Amino acid sequence: MKSQILHILEKNNRIVSGDTISAALEISRVSVWKHIRELQELDYKIIVTPKGYQLVGTTGTPFPREFSRREAKVHYFPELGSTMDTAREMAGKGCPHFTVVVAGRQKNGRGRLKREWCSLEGGLYFTLILRPKIPPIFSARLIFCASLTLANLLNKKFSVPAQVKWPNDILVRGRKISGMLSEMEAEGDRVTFINIGIGINVNNDPTFQADRAISLREILKESVSRKELLSMFLDAFENRVKHTNLDHVVSEWKQYATMLNRKIRIVTRDEVSEGLAKDVDENGTLILELADGSVKEIVHGDCFHLG
Ligand code: BTN
Repeated sequence: MKSQILHILEKNNRIVSGDTISAALEISRVSVWKHIRELQELDYKIIVTPKGYQLVGTTGTPFPREFSRREAKVHYFPELGSTMDTAREMAGKGCPHFTVVVAGRQKNGRGRLKREWCSLEGGLYFTLILRPKIPPIFSARLIFCASLTLANLLNKKFSVPAQVKWPNDILVRGRKISGMLSEMEAEGDRVTFINIGIGINVNNDPTFQADRAISLREILKESVSRKELLSMFLDAFENRVKHTNLDHVVSEWKQYATMLNRKIRIVTRDEVSEGLAKDVDENGTLILELADGSVKEIVHGDCFHLG
């Protein structure tokens, strides 16, 4: 019913009376009012006037109905604590492969290594729930595939010179535009789910919390539809996962890498290491050459350029 009300409001693109809607859908005016209230709670900007209702300014919000064939698997919430928590709950209840949890803003957006992820209105915050038929050891390939897909999309479709920094940051001219984190559950040698959480600075101002961050709007000097961006990302990512061999994802990812052959510092929860970034292997492990010439393999951590 809500979808039909939205259709009427969209088609008319002006104020539509409660009587017109109730007659068209054969429901009472009270029922129309209740549906309108629920749509407003879902973030649809519907103005209520004495003459009726008008839909305004929702362009670009990633509402499920904007995703046609994906509609049933896209779940939009105006505000969440973190899409990671909601996605974990949904995955635990058995939601299907390629379910997407999107939030308009997050109260407790999480970054890697327990940092906060600034999640103000205007950014794109989502978690993709995947149930791939791969052993846990290959799970990192999927996350590298996600950062490769996004870097590629920004370069090819938006002409933005995006690069990747190990493990999965996306930078534009050295400033961070997107970050990713993942959670996985496995039983034996079978992955039950991998949740990939992605935050992209789109039309928000991320410099409030991170002055080395940048948004797509700042780069392009115009707002970008979050719905379009998410839709393009989902299509491109799905296509890669279905049709390409994940064995070579990291090799392709390296074409966009900023840190290879540079001096870097890696910070993990337990230690700090410095050295030359020699390589990243096909499972996403960073190969760091230390000052004494020895080689260290690093699986998790945060990477900082030293020069
Ligand atoms: C990082 O670079 O530290 C990772 C940032 C990941 C942020 C995204 S926003 C959507 C999802 N929900 C969260 O709470 N975090 C991830």
